[in-house]
Formats: sequence, C-alpha cells, structure tokens
Amino acid sequence: MHVVREEFTDPSLTNDPSDHDDIGLRPKALDDFVGQRELKEHLGIVLEAARKREQSADHILLAGPPGLGKTTMAGIVASEMNAKIHITSGPALERAGDLAAILTKLDVNDVLFIDEIHRLSRQVEEILYPAMEDFQIDIVVGKGASASSIRLTLPRFTLIGATTRTGMITGPLRDRFGLVARLDFYEVDELELIVQRTARILNVPIDGAGAHEIARRSRGTPRIANRLLRRVRDHAEVRGDGKVTKASARQALEVFGVDDLGLDKVDRAILSALCRQFGGGPVGLSTLAISVSEQTETIEDVYEPFLIQQGLLARTPRGRIAMPAAWRHIGETPPTNAPELF
Ligand SMILES: Nc1ncnc2c1ncn2[C@@H]1O[C@H](COP(=O)(O)OP(=O)(O)OP(=O)(O)O)[C@@H](O)[C@H]1O
Ligand SMILES: [Mg+2]
Repeated sequence: MHVVREEFTDPSLTNDPSDHDDIGLRPKALDDFVGQRELKEHLGIVLEAARKREQSADHILLAGPPGLGKTTMAGIVASEMNAKIHITSGPALERAGDLAAILTKLDVNDVLFIDEIHRLSRQVEEILYPAMEDFQIDIVVGKGASASSIRLTLPRFTLIGATTRTGMITGPLRDRFGLVARLDFYEVDELELIVQRTARILNVPIDGAGAHEIARRSRGTPRIANRLLRRVRDHAEVRGDGKVTKASARQALEVFGVDDLGLDKVDRAILSALCRQFGGGPVGLSTLAISVSEQTETIEDVYEPFLIQQGLLARTPRGRIAMPAAWRHIGETPPTNAPELF
C-alpha cells in the first residue's frame, strides 16, 4: 500500500514510539482485522459496492478510544480499494491553505485520513464541507480588495475521519459522512488472536495460556495487548527461558505494574484518589485530573472509558463517582450509602 505522510502531519503522530513499534503489525486486509464484526460487515458492503460501481467509497467516520484500530482500519480501506492513503491530523491542519494543499494533490479514489478530526479549526472544517459533498473547494487568491476566489474541482476521494470524541464533532461535519462507526473494546478471545498473531510476526514463542493471560489484562485494547506482549517477551528473555507462558506473563506483568484487571498505575491512582481523597465522589473532572497529575483530556479519552466499561467508575451530572467495585479493587470496603447515580 502506498502511504503518503503529509508534511502537515503532526510530528508527534509519526514519532510516537508506540506507533513506531506498530510498523508491520497492522493487518492490511479486512479479513485479517480481528473483531469489530459489525463494523467489518458494514465496511465490507460499502467497499464492495464502491468497487462494483468503480467509484470511491463513501466518507467514513471512525470513533472510539485510542488503540482500538482506527488508523489500521483506514489503511485497510485504502488497500482494499487499491488506493493511496494520505495521512494527516486535525491539529496539524492549522490554516485553510494546509488542507487545500493536500486536497489538490489527491488522485481519484485516494483515501484522505484525518486523525483527531474533532480538533479541526472551524475555518478548516468549512473548507472540508464542499470538498466532501461536491468535491469542490474555493481557493482565495490575492489579498485585500484584489482578492478573488476560484473554484477547483477535486477528484472523487474518500475521507476517513478518526476521533476519540464523537460528542465533539459538529453536526454538519458528522452529517457528511456516509458511514459513522464506533469501535468497541475487544473481547478477551479476540485479543488472544491478536496476541498470537503479533507473537508470530515478532517470532516470540508463546503458548495458549500465556496469550490468554496477556489478552485478559489488555484493557480490551489491541495496542495495549501488543505492548504487553513486548514487555512480557523482554522479561522472559532477561529473567527466563524466553518463552511466554502463563507463569512468565504473570511475573512480567507484576513487574510492570499491570494488575489483575489490566489496570496500570494511573488507573489505580484515579480510583484511589476518587475513593480515598474524595470519599467516592462526586468529584469534577478537572479536580480529579489535577490530583493524579494528568490532563483532563487524557483522563477522559484514555482512562475513563475502560474504567466505566468495567463498572468501576461512573460519570454523573455532578461529577465522577466510584462504584462499589472500585473500592473493592483498591482493597477498601465500599461505603454503605451507595452512590446516587443520577
Ligand atoms: N483488529 C485488529 N486486529 C489486529 N491488530 C490490531 C487490530 N486493531 C488494532 N490492532 C493493532 O493495534 C495497534 C493500534 O491500532 P491503531 O493504531 O490502528 O489504533 P487507533 O485506534 O488508530 O489508535 P489511536 O486513536 O491511538 O490513533 C496496531 O499496532 C495494530 O496493529
Ligand atoms: Mg491512530
């Protein structure tokens, strides 16, 4: 597959060490993508229909917590459509001209992937509307009184937007996507397949119980599963015989501070602050964030979704509250007056 990293790509995206390690691990065909059955079925239909009509596929919006495979899915769409993919991100497109420069370079059927699309500026977003809908953009040439606008017709392309926050996508932008899909946390058996697959690619000897142990502590997230596999492999190579088994996985995960539920230091700090410091809440997001020295966005996008899914934490209109399971998880007795949810 031909990948074009746009110069307006946020360098943090390409220099992200976890992303760097991903090279070679991303499945390239829809059939190799594990899990997300419904999304795969919908996409399969959309892509096949587009291929039959010999047209570009409809624009696709992928939403969900980090590491669930949005970037991977965008790459798959491009390779299934035999198209080039251009990769950029919302914060990297500062001015309308940045986006126009990319749009005018596209070839017919190309995929334009905009990561963190909820962070596009208003001004850039407005260029995107006619580009998505009518494959046209208006470019302003010149300055001041002599400025004039010319309309350019673009080749038909497929926009794939990725976001960790559906709630932050404006209505008009959302409405212009033909397919809006949410990626959910993965089941343990799906993550097991992903761990086995990655182990094969990285040449790591692993048995079924070892893969299961890593999978069930991966917070439902393929990226974390792959990361834990590497840490367990390191540990097994240095302290063991290099084989990943249930016992060697358990030892390694303990060393790296990943607990039985797959929670890490920050997850536990959040639960501990919530219960011990704030009596179980409700506590406001920014107060909670300060007490664990993280950014509010990181708490909301990275940590909370899994804690909520596990029934450890809840969001209420008055703030975050600890659920009884959170107290038990940090070894405390839940208070008898159960938290009011609403
Ligand atoms: N369904 C899957 N099957 C196999 N591997 C997967 C799957 N989904 C994700 N992965 C692996 O997980 C890693 C993270 O995926 P990806 O980068 O696509 O996530 P993302 O949703 O784009 O995350 P972010 O929001 O942080 O950009 C990649 O290394 C990829 O190989
Ligand atoms: Mg990504």
